[in-house]
Amino acid sequence: MTDRRNFLRLSALGTGAVLTAQACSEHALVESNPTLQPETAPAMKETPIVVSTWKHGITANLAAWNLLQSGGYALDAVEAGVRVAESDVENRSVGLGGYPDKEGKVTLDACIMNEKSNCGAVAFLQDIENPVSVARKVLDETPHVMLVGKGALDFALAKGFEKRNLLVPEAEEAWKKWMEGSNYTPPPINTENHDTIGMLAIDSSGRISGACTTSGAAYKMHGRVGDSPIIGAGLFLDSDVGAACATGLGEAVIRVSGSAMVVELMRQGHAPEEACKIVVERIINKLGDMTHIQVGFLALNKHGEYGGYSVYNGFNFALKTGTREALIDCPFNRKW
Ligand code: GLY
Repeated sequence: MTDRRNFLRLSALGTGAVLTAQACSEHALVESNPTLQPETAPAMKETPIVVSTWKHGITANLAAWNLLQSGGYALDAVEAGVRVAESDVENRSVGLGGYPDKEGKVTLDACIMNEKSNCGAVAFLQDIENPVSVARKVLDETPHVMLVGKGALDFALAKGFEKRNLLVPEAEEAWKKWMEGSNYTPPPINTENHDTIGMLAIDSSGRISGACTTSGAAYKMHGRVGDSPIIGAGLFLDSDVGAACATGLGEAVIRVSGSAMVVELMRQGHAPEEACKIVVERIINKLGDMTHIQVGFLALNKHGEYGGYSVYNGFNFALKTGTREALIDCPFNRKW
């Protein structure tokens, strides 16, 4: 997973193209190329903009960008963006191809939220490839915020979504191998098995939106729901302030209403990265023993400034604007 730990400069235009969310490892890149200068915070104020968690955010951002660059709506952009990760059969933690729960069922959680604080979510949804689009239907076409389990599936089918087996042979094989052991404990959450995608965007009209989607922790208990579909935990935004999303162990994020807290800290004047850091430190203080517990937050304020922070090294996020495209390592509290 070395590539996750290294800053990738995928493309950049102009000398301001090296992105610096303070203390990020891209300083190494700057040192190796003196023509590139790190920016000082605030990192940027460029919109439209889209940011999303982990390396799979690179291709997801491009789908979002297709809409953003032509004046499209941020809500449509984040939906289109995270659908890419959901439909990626190689992705073991989101949508199709995700690791199953301990009973061998792939169960999905997702939510989406717009600039008017309208939101939709689904949880414990099975057999539907793109749960974020079901969440969007909940937002657009119901008076509710969240549908779960069979109710969510029935709703999706009624809206024309098609059933599909989401368990791919590679994930099934890994699950069977895990089942062979007598150890009932799910494997540690880390970059290898848990890469929820959270995406935040501001469009050319200044509208902010976010989406978050996951197949959850590998081999979780049947029925377990994490933070990703929970507004305030896996995702939150307030158009007066900005947006935040979370990745990592959902149980830890839920306990502090993680994404809502990040937004509230930005409201108090903290920069995005600093807000994420404070909430990560709060989680560490509450939980104490952080063995195998990774959590990361990504935040974007209404001005287009962004940043992230995680418990352990390895968390990164993808950025796309009209001039920049990059994968950025986040600062962290400790090393694995
Ligand atoms: N963060 C995703 C989950 O815990 O399910």
